[in-house]
Amino acid sequence: MSLVVVDHVSKSFGGLQAVSDVSFHVNEGEILGLIGPNGAGKTTLFNLVAGAITPDRGRVRFNGLDITGLPPYRISRAGLARTFQVARPFLGMTCYENVLVALIGRAHPAPDSERPELIRELLDFVGLSGKESFLASSLNLIDKKRLELARALATRPRVALLDEALGGLSSIEMDQAMGLIRSIRDKRGVNFVWIEHVMGAIMTLCERLLVLNQGMLICEGTPADVARDARVIEAYLGAPDAGD
Ligand SMILES: Nc1ncnc2c1ncn2[C@@H]1O[C@H](COP(=O)(O)OP(=O)(O)OP(=O)(O)O)[C@@H](O)[C@H]1O
Ligand SMILES: [Mg+2]
Repeated sequence: MSLVVVDHVSKSFGGLQAVSDVSFHVNEGEILGLIGPNGAGKTTLFNLVAGAITPDRGRVRFNGLDITGLPPYRISRAGLARTFQVARPFLGMTCYENVLVALIGRAHPAPDSERPELIRELLDFVGLSGKESFLASSLNLIDKKRLELARALATRPRVALLDEALGGLSSIEMDQAMGLIRSIRDKRGVNFVWIEHVMGAIMTLCERLLVLNQGMLICEGTPADVARDARVIEAYLGAPDAGD
């Protein structure tokens, strides 16, 4: 079954058509990549799915439920989590408190007595063990991203939308983050839609890619198919060694 179905969704801001008649689905067990040039509408598409903004046209279904126009907290409780292009933990709170807030907000909050262990387990899992009492403001970029993931996982999502999980990381940190995404999929059964500009990473982890350009979906397929698609090369990838 498709966990997420985006059905002919459009959104404009003033005269600008940011997302134009986009349809796609997310399959069970999948890490689906979403790529495209700056300003293509990728983050806007996440905002439309996660409820931060409402589409002008089209519907979004999640797990059989029509979630179009529902507020973000309802969508989160239904099991759809997201991370932000710029990590947004509560900077004045500790790592522990940040995860606690996410844990309390979920549909079936864990009993008080189980929370400390759950929070420690989540922080361990993302590689933040020993940093429970660190203020989020004191974390470096990768640790902020880890915390963002722990907060997303605390809501027990079926699907997580990741907006540029690797942006700003060193290549060693990228490898760690990719390992983490894969293990979250394998061990926790979370499916991902992943926006990323780091092509090598997305080509490695994703079985299927969507390519957005000027608000329109211009290609969908395996990484190999997408890499040799003439429209994608022209709009985004450039010639094979143009670099980015
Ligand atoms: N709230 C908004 N109000 C007005 N315009 C917006 C709003 N959000 C996005 N846009 C515009 O919609 C277009 C798509 O932006 P979006 O942030 O979705 O692109 P993106 O594909 O995520 O780009 P990037 O790779 O740089 O993150 C841009 O022209 C942007 O300026
Ligand atoms: Mg974006």
